[in-house]
Amino acid sequence: MKVLAKSLLLQKIALKHLKNGDEIGLVPTMGALHRGHVSLIDKSVKNNDVTIVSIFVNPTQFSPGEDFLQYPRSLEKDLFVCKKSHVDYVFVPNVNEMFSANHKTFVEVKELQDILCGKFRTGHFRGVATMVAKLFNISFADKAYFGMKDFQQLKILEKMAKDLNFRTKIIACPTVREKDGLALSSRNAYLSFEERDLSACINKILKQAASEFKNKDLNSILKAAEVKLQKIPNLKIEYIQAVNSKDLSSINKNSEFCCLVLAVRLGKTRLIDNVLMRK
Ligand code: PAJ
Repeated sequence: MKVLAKSLLLQKIALKHLKNGDEIGLVPTMGALHRGHVSLIDKSVKNNDVTIVSIFVNPTQFSPGEDFLQYPRSLEKDLFVCKKSHVDYVFVPNVNEMFSANHKTFVEVKELQDILCGKFRTGHFRGVATMVAKLFNISFADKAYFGMKDFQQLKILEKMAKDLNFRTKIIACPTVREKDGLALSSRNAYLSFEERDLSACINKILKQAASEFKNKDLNSILKAAEVKLQKIPNLKIEYIQAVNSKDLSSINKNSEFCCLVLAVRLGKTRLIDNVLMRK
């Protein structure tokens, strides 16, 4: 396994693999790797000749006042995890390598970036899309692996890849959860013992709501879920909404493939989750 910090070097190596006819898989991450990340890595290693994992806490996707400085960093452990998972290259650039002081170019996915989480995290998806576009250009990846846990991010990146004609195919991977249903996230480390206990309710409430989708009116399902969430101490709902699972558009009574998405704050920790539902 090679650890690289320079984009030009990785680009040269990736181009060589491309010319050799190797299939290149990319797994973009911000590190603090957990089983969710590993599920993406395993899929890439299994289905490609070469796997590149990037580890970069991307400052451009944190809004002012967010947790950029506190975000968990565990590079040594992450490299060990990558090595154990048979990753070929780990790309670990520094901030200046990715976003020099003179960086002027950003990718925006209009409308999709402004709804749901975008309403609460100004500029977040612009930072994500720009970072991932750069990684696509650096890695020449055939496939890039993203988790469905970050459903809006996944849909935004699918749209970006299509609109900008990237050669990279986006592969959506299922959410990996704790036994009690909490979606694995690097930010779960912020939860206190009591909050961690309470957090299991979030997925249970979502799943219950989704199970009623076939038979009940959507507004009453959402209202009931909101009431249950509001009973959890120290929990603030940012949003709970049903959207079209293909493209995040609004749904109507005839919509078949939907996704129930939510974001809450439990104490100081921001948590997101979603479940797919079908009429
Ligand atoms: P990060 O939060 O580190 O997540 C990296 C990838 O792992 C994302 O595709 C995310 O959806 C996936 N992932 C996280 N938790 C998961 C879980 N419990 N189950 C399955 N997959 C999970 O998302 C980012 O980093 C950044 O925004 C990034 C795309 C790297 C751009 O900077």
